[in-house]
Amino acid sequence: MKAINLLAHTAVTVSVMRLAVDAVFAQDLSAGRAKVEAVCQTCHGVDGVATSAMVPNLSGQQKEYMVVQLEAFRSGQRQHPQMSIIAKMLSDEEIEIVSEWYANIKISVEAPE
Ligand code: HEC
Repeated sequence: MKAINLLAHTAVTVSVMRLAVDAVFAQDLSAGRAKVEAVCQTCHGVDGVATSAMVPNLSGQQKEYMVVQLEAFRSGQRQHPQMSIIAKMLSDEEIEIVSEWYANIKISVEAPE
């Protein structure tokens, strides 16, 4: 009987923890979205679909890749008239959350016949 109670208790604890993790995760994405709306959307869109032909799409892009590129723009290792300025305004945490936002946009891919 005791073992069953313990199991039930563990299951409840695990699902409560899971909810807490989901809540933190959702919060992280909303902070990323807010930053994207404030700084990136004119060119990359909130959904990561570029607003002009010379701007890359970021929807569903790998988070690690975006973090590395934003750090490279910020350090001057990669140069671009607009992105170099924008990246210098971003903290490490902001680089994380905006990359997390774009990486979490679901995309579907269809190659031509
Ligand atoms: C004024 C327009 C503009 C804004 C605003 C802007 N970007 Fe960019 N972004 C560009 C352009 C143009 C490039 C392509 C740079 C190049 O050719 O090297 C780029 C490149 C990038 C890349 C590299 C993509 C790749 O495929 O290598 C990332 C990541 C990126 N931007 C993220 C962001 C984020 C995050 C924000 C907001 C914090 C932002 N950008 C705001 C115009 C913009």
